Amino acid sequence: MKTVETIQDIRLALKEARRETLHGKPECTVGFVPTMGYLHQGHQSLIERARKECDIVVLSIFVNPLQFGPNEDFERYPRDRERDLRLASEAGADLVFMPGVTDMYPTPIRTKVIVSNITEVLCGSSRPGHFDGVATVVTKLFQIVQPDKAYFGMKDAQQIAVIEQFVADLNVPVTIVRCETLREADGLAMSSRNVYLNEEERKQAVILSATLGRIDGWLTEEGMTVDRLNGRIRDHIESAPLARIDYAEIRTYPGLDSVVSMEQWNGSQPILVALAVRFGKTRLIDNRIFFPE
Ligand code: PAJ
Repeated sequence: MKTVETIQDIRLALKEARRETLHGKPECTVGFVPTMGYLHQGHQSLIERARKECDIVVLSIFVNPLQFGPNEDFERYPRDRERDLRLASEAGADLVFMPGVTDMYPTPIRTKVIVSNITEVLCGSSRPGHFDGVATVVTKLFQIVQPDKAYFGMKDAQQIAVIEQFVADLNVPVTIVRCETLREADGLAMSSRNVYLNEEERKQAVILSATLGRIDGWLTEEGMTVDRLNGRIRDHIESAPLARIDYAEIRTYPGLDSVVSMEQWNGSQPILVALAVRFGKTRLIDNRIFFPE
C-alpha cells in the first residue's frame, strides 16, 4: 500500500498503478472509497467490497472543512493517521490519498456543486451548506482519482441520494455503489463520532437502531397511519432520557418527498425512515429503507 499527500502524486501513482495492472489486460478498473478518516469496520467494509470488485483500490482521507458549519466539529473531528493506515492496509487498499487543506483548497473556492431540493430536508435543514460542501469535495475527488466505481455507505442515505443526483445531472462517468450499514453488536451504527459518547450516552444510543427495528411490528397494527407511526417512532426514541430528536422523518427514497399516507407507504417507491438524534453534544444519524414488495 502506498500513501500520497498531494494531487500531483496521486495522479502519478494512479498512472503507474494502471500501467502495472494493465500488463497484457485490455482494461483495469479503479474503485474509490472517499472518507474523512478515523476509520472503523464500516469504512473497512467499503474498502473490502471495492477490493473484490476492482483492480486498483484508492482510499481518500480528508476532513473537508467545506462541509462543516461554523459551530460544528471540524477542529475536533477525530484523527489518527497511523491507525487509519493500518486499517486501510488490512482491508486491502492499494493507494491512500491524504491531501492537506491547502492542496484541496489553495485559493478560496468560487465554484461549488449545489444540488437543489433533496438537500433542503433532513440533515440539509439543520446543516445548511453541508451537502454543497459534500457534493463539491466529492466532485473534486472524482476529478482527481477518476474512478470507475465509488463506494458509499447507506448510513448516510441522503448523502448517497445527493451524490447520485449530481452524478446523473452532470454525466459524471462513475458508478455509485450503495453499501449496507455496519453495526456494533447491540445495533448502533458504526460512526467515527461514536467516540464522543460517554458511557451512559453510548448505552442509550442503541435507541436509534432499536426504534428502526420496531417499525415492522407497528406496521402490522390495525388502523396504523403515517401520523401514528411518526408518533410511535418519536415516543420510542424519547424513552431514552438523554435523547434529543433533531428529526425523525418518513420520506420516499431517493426522491426524499414526504410520505403522508399508508397508500404512499405501500406504493411503488422505496420508503426511508431517517433519524437524527443528539446525545449531549453528539449528533447521531441512522435510517432504514423499506422496499416495495
Ligand atoms: P465519512 O463519515 O468518513 O464516511 C465515509 C464513508 O463511509 C461514507 O460513504 C459513509 O456512508 C461510510 N460509512 C460510515 N459509517 C458506516 C457504517 N457504519 N457502515 C457502512 N458505511 C459507513 O461521509 C463522509 O465521510 C464524507 O461526507 C465524504 C463522503 C468523505 C465527503 O467528505
